[in-house]
Amino acid sequence: PDHSALGYSVGVTLDRFIKMKQDDFPFASGELSQILRDIALASKIVNREINRAGLSNIGGAFGSTNVQGEEQQKLDVVANIRFSRALTKGGEVCAIVSEEDDEVIDLQNSSGKYVVAMDPLDGSSNIDVNISIGTIFSIYRRVTPVGSPIQPEDIMQPGNKQVAAGYVLYGSSTMLVYTTGKGVNGFTYEQSLGEFFLSHPNICAPKDGKIYSINEGLNSQISEGIKNYITSCKERDFSARYIGSLVADFHRNLLKGGIYIYPSTAKAPEGKLRLLYEANSLAFIAEQAGASASDGKNRILDIQPTSLHQRTPLYIGSTVMVEEAEGHLKEAT
Ligand code: AHG
Ligand code: MN
Ligand code: MN
Ligand code: MN
Repeated sequence: PDHSALGYSVGVTLDRFIKMKQDDFPFASGELSQILRDIALASKIVNREINRAGLSNIGGAFGSTNVQGEEQQKLDVVANIRFSRALTKGGEVCAIVSEEDDEVIDLQNSSGKYVVAMDPLDGSSNIDVNISIGTIFSIYRRVTPVGSPIQPEDIMQPGNKQVAAGYVLYGSSTMLVYTTGKGVNGFTYEQSLGEFFLSHPNICAPKDGKIYSINEGLNSQISEGIKNYITSCKERDFSARYIGSLVADFHRNLLKGGIYIYPSTAKAPEGKLRLLYEANSLAFIAEQAGASASDGKNRILDIQPTSLHQRTPLYIGSTVMVEEAEGHLKEAT
């Protein structure tokens, strides 16, 4: 139907888009659309809680630390509960890996065919100061028979086995961006209608860029190679943009062209970011948008995980920039 008579065209909703693209998903599209609907629902609830954090008493620290040794913020815990509950109720998922849970959450769901790895709230240090935060997720198909007990091989899958991945960005507008391996599409949340509408179809990242994102406070701890790369960015008058929220920094660089680096440091030789629910998810999105993601040497998606919360250095964004940074790293070793 032509809505132009209303003076605006109501875009395609997330639900309708998934149905339109059902042959894009290698398995029954109903299963994927259910999981994405569960994630979208939880993100709407978390979005509302984020918007009210200052008014209700859910800002600040929760008073416990997670397995990463980080002090959990109340919203870390709230978001973890909301996403876990939505995925449990959706009925398609058999296990969840979360930054906020030490062990795998076994949903005891004998018909669940999918495993979800998630960072329920990314950029927690920004919650109380009203700076954009995010949610990151990866979706895998379990590899052992449906209904049998969850095995490590269901969980420790390399990123190249993802069937879908995405993120929610709670920014000046709230967006859901995801891929099922057939390109990347972005949806913007219309609060008054409670719907995500297609706003960024077929996102393609610029091959090169002039934005670099790294915490330069780490300079005393990082390798000469990366210092040389950052110097070369400065010599070319690139812009430094780093807000301490990976999802927001990544999304800006994906659209405008740029590189985000969280390198190996003296204190954290494996870097800070986690492979299963930060690096892998964004690496899948990056590659589907024509960009790149490596640990400085190896393609992120080819890394075989060995532990649930393992960390990896992350160089992600415009391909030319990632390759340049890798070149500087190689020179220095
Ligand atoms: P999380 O809040 O999920 O623990 O992730 C925070 C990450 C990432 O979002 C951000 O880019 C990075 O930590 C910031 O780390 P530094 O403060 O060390 O720069
Ligand atoms: Mn954290
Ligand atoms: Mn994070
Ligand atoms: Mn987090």
